[in-house]
Amino acid sequence: MEINKEKLDEIILKYGRDKAHLLAIFQDVQKEYRYLPKEAVRHICMRLGMPQVDGFEVATFYKSFSLKPRGKHTVHVCLGTACHLKGGADVLLSFMRELKVKTGETTADGAFTLESVNCLGACALAPLVRVDEKDFGKTTVAQSRNIIRDFTDHH
Ligand code: FES
Repeated sequence: MEINKEKLDEIILKYGRDKAHLLAIFQDVQKEYRYLPKEAVRHICMRLGMPQVDGFEVATFYKSFSLKPRGKHTVHVCLGTACHLKGGADVLLSFMRELKVKTGETTADGAFTLESVNCLGACALAPLVRVDEKDFGKTTVAQSRNIIRDFTDHH
């Protein structure tokens, strides 16, 4: 992906060329690209006069940052104990089939990222699938296609 360095510099200057603002800068960049491109991390480190390894350490330490492209929507399939017992793994497999990606990957059209998670805190609804902010409880394998279609139609 082509990184707009001027845009990056704009963000950096907004906060100031100081390591103390690294998180804020990363957050803005991620908002811009929906992920934190590696090239952007390198450029920011260069501008802030810090070693790249430190920048990547921060980028990988915080779960909210992604160094890989993210889809417009994120499908979280719960594999916590309750959901697992109710067939969460099969639900995850059906999403893998529908989206043609593995866990942690993003579809080629950039529409969906598939993730598995450990307990979303609504075990009574097991097996639970959360797409962005929306919960789908007692999900069945057959439903996965409809759920995806729901989000595909309303881009
Ligand atoms: S185990 Fe899935 S919501 Fe708790």
